[in-house]
Amino acid sequence: MTVFESRETLADTLHLHRAKHMSIGFVPTMGALHAGHISLVSRCREDNEVVVVSIFVNPAQFNDKNDLARYPRMLEADSEKLQAAGCDFLFAPAVEEMYPEEDRRQFDFGMLDKVMEGVYRPGHFNGVAQIVSKLFDTVQPQRAYFGEKDFQQLAVIRRMVKMLHYPVEIVGCPIVREADGLAMSSRNARLTVEQLKQAPVIADTLFQSRRKIAHTPLDELKRWVKDRINNTGGLEVEYFEIVDRETLQPAAGYRENELQGCIAVHAGDVRLIDNVTY
Ligand code: PAJ
Repeated sequence: MTVFESRETLADTLHLHRAKHMSIGFVPTMGALHAGHISLVSRCREDNEVVVVSIFVNPAQFNDKNDLARYPRMLEADSEKLQAAGCDFLFAPAVEEMYPEEDRRQFDFGMLDKVMEGVYRPGHFNGVAQIVSKLFDTVQPQRAYFGEKDFQQLAVIRRMVKMLHYPVEIVGCPIVREADGLAMSSRNARLTVEQLKQAPVIADTLFQSRRKIAHTPLDELKRWVKDRINNTGGLEVEYFEIVDRETLQPAAGYRENELQGCIAVHAGDVRLIDNVTY
């Protein structure tokens, strides 16, 4: 595995591979890698001749500067995991390399970012789109891999690719969970022992709600999910929405396999998100 810090050097190297008609797959990340990230890299390895992973903690997508400062950084441990997972090229640029000047682009995602994460993290998806488009410009992958863990992000990226006509196939990958159901996240590392016992209630409640949805009005189900988690102690629901999987707009009634339940929960100062298909 070769590590690159320069956009130009990485682009030159990839150009040589593209000239040999090798397919290039790309997994963008912010590091502190866990089995969820590695599942994307493994899928990318299966599908492509060249595997590129980026690690870049993107300031533009953090609306909470404390969250940015506290975000775990562990490049050495991450490199070892990526090497073992069969990554060919790791791109780990400095902030100045990606933002030599402020990116002033404003993307219009219509209603997609007017709900859920878009409401509670204003500007977040604009920052995600800024960095992912810059990364796509450098890597020019044939395929790029994103987790369903960030369900709304995946929808926003698909929209961006359509809007900007990127010739990239976006591959969505299933959520990887701990044995107790907790969705893996780099932020889980900041949970206390106590919070680690409470947090699995989030996934457990979502799974139980799947068994109820066919015979429960959606408003009632939403209340039941929020109450069950809020009554756990240590957990506070920020939002829980049942939305159309394509438009992300609130659903009026149950339609099998077409709805997604999306949740954000605070465990102390750690913010956790999860989702489930109904
Ligand atoms: P990050 O949070 O590091 O996540 C990188 C990718 O890993 C995302 O596509 C995310 O959905 C996926 N992922 C995280 N946890 C997962 C899990 N438990 N199961 C499956 N996939 C999981 O998302 C970002 O970084 C950034 O916003 C980024 C796209 C890199 C732009 O900065």
